[in-house]
Amino acid sequence: MQIDIRNLSFAYGHKTIINGLSHTINSGDYLVVQGKNGSGKSTLIKCLLGVNSVKNGMIFLDKQDINAFKHWTKFGYVSQNSDGFNYEFPLTVQELLRFSTITKKSESNYLKLLDQMSILEIVNENINSLSGGQLQRVFIVKAMLNDPEVLILDEPTASIDKQNSIFFYKTVDELNKLGKTIILITHTDSLENLNYTHVLDMAIDLTTTISTKEEIEGVDKS
Ligand SMILES: Nc1ncnc2c1ncn2[C@@H]1O[C@H](COP(=O)(O)OP(=O)(O)O)[C@@H](O)[C@H]1O
Ligand SMILES: [Mg+2]
Repeated sequence: MQIDIRNLSFAYGHKTIINGLSHTINSGDYLVVQGKNGSGKSTLIKCLLGVNSVKNGMIFLDKQDINAFKHWTKFGYVSQNSDGFNYEFPLTVQELLRFSTITKKSESNYLKLLDQMSILEIVNENINSLSGGQLQRVFIVKAMLNDPEVLILDEPTASIDKQNSIFFYKTVDELNKLGKTIILITHTDSLENLNYTHVLDMAIDLTTTISTKEEIEGVDKS
């Protein structure tokens, strides 16, 4: 999918959060969105997912105006703060994934995906008993169930340790190599271990900068 953001501005009430952002995310891109807490990263994601309605500027999804777009299963989304997740009753991983299954494709998919994420053995475990890293992987599987073209991950490694983060980023690389478009949000400045193609930097003063990997590595070397 192509995501074409044209002169997008967004405000909550009178508080402008995004000011005139333009960027095209092409199929197969791996975009890292970075910026300090409160810089508007999650707000941008909610614009891309139609949660925040776009009134200033335009977003085209595969050349269609987002306000008319309907193919939302093309997106897989892991929201921020999934780490605080707790279910009131003892649901197993399998049950959670079954409830999230909305197409025929996803029915057969979840065992394969659990295996791919190296967590097949926890399929019958209570989700409230999982470690942060395991739960994170379950949420990725959930986001991947309907075989999305774009995977959006909002601060996915915030609650897992460094080793699990590295493993996690490797999995993201594999998904990207399989052709998934990746949009990864992070509030740290470290791009270490990330095989991104582009970085969107969101500053607190509302300026935004887009750089390619080549541009960033060129700067690092000088
Ligand atoms: N639903 C909302 N209503 C009003 N203000 C909000 C809402 N969501 C976020 N904000 C504010 O918008 C700014 C950007 O938030 P957010 O997009 O969550 O930033 P980030 O994800 O970069 O930390 C913050 O100042 C936040 O308090
Ligand atoms: Mg956020």
